[in-house]
Amino acid sequence: MSALPRPEPRPGVLDIDAYVPGKSSAPGVARVFKLSSNETPLGPSPQAIAAYRAAAETLHEYPDGAASDLREAIGRTFGLDPARIVCGAGSDDLLNLLARAYLRDGDEAIHTTHGFLVYPIATLGTGAKPIVAPEKNYTADVDAILARVTPRTKMVFLANPNNPTGTYLPFDEVKRLHAGLPPHCLLLIDAAYAEYVRRNDYESGIELVATSSNVVMCRTFSKIYGLAALRLGWMYGPAHVVDAVNRIRGPFNVNAPAIVAGIAAMRDSAHVEISREHNTRWLPWLTEEIGKLGLEVTPSVANFVLIHFPNQKGRTAKDADAFLTRRGLILRQVGAYKLPNALRMSVGTEEANRLVVQALAEFLGKA
Ligand SMILES: Cc1ncc(COP(=O)(O)O)c(C=O)c1O
Repeated sequence: MSALPRPEPRPGVLDIDAYVPGKSSAPGVARVFKLSSNETPLGPSPQAIAAYRAAAETLHEYPDGAASDLREAIGRTFGLDPARIVCGAGSDDLLNLLARAYLRDGDEAIHTTHGFLVYPIATLGTGAKPIVAPEKNYTADVDAILARVTPRTKMVFLANPNNPTGTYLPFDEVKRLHAGLPPHCLLLIDAAYAEYVRRNDYESGIELVATSSNVVMCRTFSKIYGLAALRLGWMYGPAHVVDAVNRIRGPFNVNAPAIVAGIAAMRDSAHVEISREHNTRWLPWLTEEIGKLGLEVTPSVANFVLIHFPNQKGRTAKDADAFLTRRGLILRQVGAYKLPNALRMSVGTEEANRLVVQALAEFLGKA
């Protein structure tokens, strides 16, 4: 008996491995330090929390669908034309909208081996094909990306810095990548961690967007601004890209509490600076202390580190994860990122950072 016809999703959808977020609990452990999702250990600005609470009084009203005040606040902070900004429900929303606007069946979109997992998910969801460009030293390789460009390539996704490796491409390399792409190919620079980077040769993408017609930059309020729960992101792009995204986005894709909290968070530059300083202090500390234990740590410019473990029974990344989880220290397994022998750890509070180093020393028998 033949099966009855039924609705079938478009080709590609069932090839998607659904995104699995970082763990947030450890069974039987009273005190948990969640270091699995690159959230800020310092939380949001108190002013953002106050603005969010105040928004509770008007929950019956639709938000401003254009998020005009928020776009103006972002524009003021970064010196950008608000008309060329679109806000989204997290930068995830914008990554997916851009893929939907620019990809179709038969197209190709390039991302790198250890690139952020949302890129192949967004690509496959449109029916297009994700093409993987190998990395060098856990870093995007411009030549490898350019070598994979074909007439079918419509998008290149570049996380800069990248998650989960924490590595980045200097501005010269990003410019070289852009210069090698055909003008019909959209270069999406995902700068979710830009605020943490302290390198003179880094540029988040603003300059390239301003001077070209096929580059768009995505940013988020989930990381340094500490508003991950509210789902808030933004993109800056050429007017024609902004126009396309505005036509397909949900008419109220950003909610009212997120809008007011985002504005307050952006205004509180002192809080952002404290968060940045915290990271600038603890990122090198973790890299050095974990390195001293004999584990390789990929040099990171973001708010997390990638720790590599030996492929040796009892010492693997999975063993370490189980050991740390029993102590309430929750890191991220990154097998889905083709890094089965590594764990990613967000920079935490001083207490959490010290506890992880101590626990890793015990795990390795070096305490
Ligand atoms: C590289 C990268 N891009 C985008 C995002 C998504 O951020 P959002 O919370 O704004 O959707 C993340 C979150 O982990 C990320 O690591």
